[in-house]
Amino acid sequence: MSVVSDETDETALASISGVDLKGPYHSLRVARVVDETQDARSIVLEVPDALRELFAYEAGQFLTFRFEVNGQKLVRCYSLASCPSSEREHKVTVKRIQDGRVSNWINDTLAAGHLVEVMRPAGLFTLRNQDQRIILFGGGSGITPCISIIKTALATTHRKVRLVYANRDEESVIFKAELANFEQRYPDRLEVVHRYDVMHGFADAAAVRGYVANDIDADFYICGPGPFMDVVQSTLLGLGVSPERVFIERFGSPGALPAGSGPARGAPVAAAGGDAAATITISLHGETREVAYTAGDTVLVTARKAGMEPPFACEEGYCGCCMAQVKEGGLDMKANDCLDRGQLEEGWVLTCQGVPRKGTLRIAYPD
Ligand SMILES: Cc1cc2nc3c(=O)[nH]c(=O)nc-3n(C[C@H](O)[C@H](O)[C@H](O)COP(=O)(O)OP(=O)(O)OC[C@H]3O[C@@H](n4cnc5c(N)ncnc54)[C@H](O)[C@@H]3O)c2cc1C
Ligand code: FES
Repeated sequence: MSVVSDETDETALASISGVDLKGPYHSLRVARVVDETQDARSIVLEVPDALRELFAYEAGQFLTFRFEVNGQKLVRCYSLASCPSSEREHKVTVKRIQDGRVSNWINDTLAAGHLVEVMRPAGLFTLRNQDQRIILFGGGSGITPCISIIKTALATTHRKVRLVYANRDEESVIFKAELANFEQRYPDRLEVVHRYDVMHGFADAAAVRGYVANDIDADFYICGPGPFMDVVQSTLLGLGVSPERVFIERFGSPGALPAGSGPARGAPVAAAGGDAAATITISLHGETREVAYTAGDTVLVTARKAGMEPPFACEEGYCGCCMAQVKEGGLDMKANDCLDRGQLEEGWVLTCQGVPRKGTLRIAYPD
C-alpha cells in the first residue's frame, strides 16, 4: 500500500459522496445529552442528510472525535451505542475516567446545541453475517459497542444472544433499563447476566467457563477493562474457541501512554536502509518541525520520539485517529482498514502505519 503526494492544495480537496471535505473531521451538532448513570452520559448527534451516507455505520463501530479542552486539541474514540438498523440517531456514551481530560469534560460541559468535530465511523469490532449464537463479555463502558451489536442482531437476525455484563455495582450499570426491556421483548433469544464486583468479585477463568458452558462455537465479543478482557480471552482460547471467533475492542487513550513509548504494534517494517532521510518535517498543532528520522520507524513513532503529541488510538490502522496529510514526498502504509480511495488520493495517510520512503517527507496533521 503506498501513497505519494506532491504539494496538495488544501483548498482543492476532492469530495466524497458529494460532500465537500476539508480534512477528515465534520462538524456535527449535539442534539441532546442523556444522563445514564452518575458517571456516564450519552451524546446524541444530529447527522445532516448531506452526511448520512458518509456516517452510515455497522453495529460495533466507533466515531473519532476531536475536542478542544483547556486550549488543547485532544482526539478520542467513542463507540456507537445506537443501532444502525432501527435507530436514526447516532449515539455515543462516555464514562468518566478518573483524571481523564476528555471524559470529564464531556460529562461536565458538553451540552445540546454544541458543535463537535467528528470523523466518519470506523472499526472492525462488528457483527458477522453468521448464524451462531453470540456471547458478549462487556465490562463498564465496554457495553457501548456490545449493545449496538445486541440490538442489531435481535432486529436483523434470528441469532441467540448472551451478554455477560460486569460492573462495579448495580448503580454503575449503563443501559440497565434498555437491556431489561430487550430481555422482555426477546425472552427466547436474549439472556443478560449481570456481575457486580462488590458482590461477585472480579471474573476469573472458572466464571468465564461457566458462562460459555458448551457454546464454544459461538461468536464472542469482548470489550471492557484490560484485566477483564485478558481473562476472558485466555479462557476462551484455553477452551478451544477458534481465535477467528473472538472479537476484541480495546478502549485505549493516547493520553494514557507516555510519549515515545515505542513503535506501533504489528508486523515489523523493513528498514528503509541507507537511503532513508535523516529528518522528516511534521506539522502539528500549528507548529512545524524538522525531526530526526530512524530508518523503519513510522511517522507516528517518529513524532512521539521527537516529543510531539500526535493523536492516535488503535495503532493498527483501523481507527483513523492518527490521520495526517502528505504535503511532499511519499510513504508506504503497512495496513489501512480505514481510508478510502478518495482520501488516499487527497494524500491522507495513517501515521501509525506510514513508513517514509527515501527522500523528503513533509506531513501535516489536520489543523
Ligand atoms: C475504539 C475505542 C472506542 C472507545 N469507546 C468508548 C466508549 O464508548 N465509551 C467510553 O467511555 N470510552 C471509550 N473509549 C475510551 C476513550 O476513547 C477515552 O480513552 C476515555 O474517555 C479516556 O479519555 P480521557 O481524555 O478522559 O482520559 P485521558 O486524559 O486520556 O486519561 C486516561 C488516563 O490516563 C491518565 N493520564 C492522563 N494524561 C496522562 C499523561 N499525559 N500521561 C500519563 N497518563 C495520563 C489519566 O489519569 C487517566 O487515568 C474508546 C476508546 C477506543 C480506542
Ligand atoms: S492510530 Fe488507529 S489508525 Fe492509526
